[in-house]
Amino acid sequence: MKVADIRRTFLKFYESKGHTIVHSSPVVPGNDPTLLFTNAGMNQFKDVFLGFDKRPYTRATTSQKCIRAGGKHNDLDNVGYTARHHTFFEMLGNFSFGDYFKHDAIHFAWELLTKHFMLPAEKLWVTVYAEDDEAYDIWNKEVGVPAERIVRIGDNKGARYMSDNFWMMGDTGPCGPCSEIFYDHGDSVQGGPPGSPDEDGDRYIEIWNLVFMQFYRDEKGVMHKLPKPSIDTGMGLERIAAVLQGVHNNYDIDLFKNLLAAAKAAVESVSVGEVDATSPSLKVIADHIRACAFSVADGIVPGNEGRAYVLRRICRRAIRHGYKLGARAPFFYKLVDAVVAEMGEAYPELKNPKIAAVLEDEERRFFATITKGMELLEDAIAKCTNGCLDGEILFKLHDTYGFPADLTGDVCRERGLTIDTEGFDRAMERQRAAARASAKFKMAAGLEYSGADTVFTGYDTLVETGAKVIGLYRDGEAVEHVDAGEDCVVVFDRTPFYAESGGQTGDKGEAKNATSLLEVLDTFKVKAAVTGEHCHVHEGGVSLGDTFDLRVNEELREATMRNHSVTHIMHKALRTVLGDGVAQKGSLVSPKSTRFDFSYPKPLTADEIRQVETIVNAEILRNTEVETRVLPIDEAKETGAVMLFGEKYGETVRVLNIGTSVEFCGGTHVKRTGDIGFFKVVSEAGIAAGVRRIEAVTGTEALRFVQEQAELLSESAHRFKAPVSELPGKIDDLMQTQKALEKALEQLKSRMAAKLGDTLVEQAVDVKGVKVLVARMDGADAKALRETMDKVKDKLGTAAAVLASVVDGRVQLAAGVTKNLTDRVKAGELVNFVALQVGGKGGGKPDMAMAGGSDASKLDEALAGVASWVEAKL
Ligand code: ALA
Repeated sequence: MKVADIRRTFLKFYESKGHTIVHSSPVVPGNDPTLLFTNAGMNQFKDVFLGFDKRPYTRATTSQKCIRAGGKHNDLDNVGYTARHHTFFEMLGNFSFGDYFKHDAIHFAWELLTKHFMLPAEKLWVTVYAEDDEAYDIWNKEVGVPAERIVRIGDNKGARYMSDNFWMMGDTGPCGPCSEIFYDHGDSVQGGPPGSPDEDGDRYIEIWNLVFMQFYRDEKGVMHKLPKPSIDTGMGLERIAAVLQGVHNNYDIDLFKNLLAAAKAAVESVSVGEVDATSPSLKVIADHIRACAFSVADGIVPGNEGRAYVLRRICRRAIRHGYKLGARAPFFYKLVDAVVAEMGEAYPELKNPKIAAVLEDEERRFFATITKGMELLEDAIAKCTNGCLDGEILFKLHDTYGFPADLTGDVCRERGLTIDTEGFDRAMERQRAAARASAKFKMAAGLEYSGADTVFTGYDTLVETGAKVIGLYRDGEAVEHVDAGEDCVVVFDRTPFYAESGGQTGDKGEAKNATSLLEVLDTFKVKAAVTGEHCHVHEGGVSLGDTFDLRVNEELREATMRNHSVTHIMHKALRTVLGDGVAQKGSLVSPKSTRFDFSYPKPLTADEIRQVETIVNAEILRNTEVETRVLPIDEAKETGAVMLFGEKYGETVRVLNIGTSVEFCGGTHVKRTGDIGFFKVVSEAGIAAGVRRIEAVTGTEALRFVQEQAELLSESAHRFKAPVSELPGKIDDLMQTQKALEKALEQLKSRMAAKLGDTLVEQAVDVKGVKVLVARMDGADAKALRETMDKVKDKLGTAAAVLASVVDGRVQLAAGVTKNLTDRVKAGELVNFVALQVGGKGGGKPDMAMAGGSDASKLDEALAGVASWVEAKL
């Protein structure tokens, strides 16, 4: 019986018993947020069971489209590797809404199985819920199933009603005891009857579940009686088809045979070679096309969240399996036609041209990155030494190449590796945090403010009491009030918070009053003399006119000030060491470090860096007072202060004297140079033509850096078992030894090639006066093959030779022809004669050519044909 006939027979049978045939509901459940996809026939009747919804019928039958690829029931990983797992499957079912109950449900099922599907009664086993004597008696006394084939199963899952024979839709919803029917595939198959220790084997397969719906389980787990006892049954169409068609594997039923053949043809239409018809990858593709076609038919489009992402994952997983089989262009969408041919009659929604178009679009997107992604992955797999693929790689594949993590996991599983999902989650969280930070940045853009200027008091103090809210914004819009839990931008009349400018990052801290607590995440300029605090409201709320006590995070600000002040001293030191050509090009001062860009044509030497460090630290030790004066701009210019890059100057400016440096600067600074503590350059590099970048640290951060370096050094010394002072000499020794070893190895290889050449020459056979030599030198690399070939050709008068090796499963080939023969035999043609048979291609000169190949299993056969190939040319 074909799948279509089984479906029809089932529905017609129940129709003859007074059931209304109801069309399957979509794979996207309507109005049910508890479900990602429809996963059982009863989903569409949930409210009818509960008594919330009424239908014109009390008996119904369906063939329901189900997807189990996300949420509670997820079979995605098993598909293709087991006999019975699918992402998409059909569930045949009959339903009674307060109409018949156990008696009829059991009799109907038995009649259908034994009289219409003609299954032998003795092959059928049943289970009942341990306490359900009523069901037991119906099976035993009325139907006549002998006691030895009826198994009672109790609460075997650790709690009341937690049982294989008590079915629940989910944590809440309609539920009840159930009775399952099993088919015995016979003793040639491994496995025990239900309830026995080997019940998970393949011999006894559950084909049908009859649920006696009696309760509603609420959020607290309390069971309430349903308005009327009801019936819900479910039989996997693919499973019953396997039984009726006498096969053990669902993929051997008629429908899948056709889909598998279509999948093979579609992949072959876009790949070079033939596809192995037994590859599990074809099963994955044949399964996934149904889930994808039905999902799109029901309105889902591949995307990045929820069901849309599940669909994308299924699609890309199928595409990757096609890629593995050799496909290098879209093929998957072509299978929609085959699904329509198999299932379009039962599901007319499949006959929609949009389905192939949507899938093709998704496929094109993925093919744009899959090759690069696979290269990266292959490389990472080759380098992986601990059996677990790094989370950062997993994330990069996801983020840059569109590889869902479970797809990468699928590839890794094939290679015996696991994946670091925790590392992946960490990388994902980092990216989210960065996105939040950039959203914060956008906060600053385009706020409309026309109120008074703000007074900045932060040069002298880090706290301010009673500051008044004079501007308030949420999502870029002016508002009067913002609630707890939200982000906003606040403008205070006075503030000690430094707004990001002149390369110095904005302050962080908090704003508080009797009822509210705001965290200041960042501070920026709303316009020239107006400061905005980007805040998260933790408690209470904030309204225009409120007053707050403000406090800048002292630790961060002080670290920032150390880094800012030292930047001026460093600038001066750079000019002292490198000359006056040094001009500032940009800077970024944060609590962590100072980054300073300046014009200079070449890298700094280690000695120059040391000099800069020495000068700066000497200035710190001198511990002189830092002085700032606010002067009218013209007067300020007369001081000879250096005007800084990127600064805009107003009527009055701040002139900073620090050490011997005099510069304009609006930033915040330490009181004495000694406050900086200690200065250390961390890196120096070129960032553009003629522009260098120095990064340096101060205070505790500098201490931490030096300690870390010292630890690394002593760790290295420990490994070399030598004092730190002897390390450079030890490293030189090691490098010299390595060079000597490499040279010795080269000599050895070349001597071996010569020796091998001698013995190989003896293996050459005579073909019409030409020596033909064919030999395998497994393990030899391309260079060794070439060298041996040179030696061989020197020794043979008129000859054609092919040398081959297999290294790590890859074939390497060299073909050589003596000069006096190249008019008749060309090395390039010869090497390709072999290469094409082992899945490769190559080329070279008429007397010497090289090639590679991927299929080592065909090598011997290909080599065996060389002599006759040469003979044909002579
Ligand atoms: N709703 C029941 C099941 O899915 C029939 O097994």
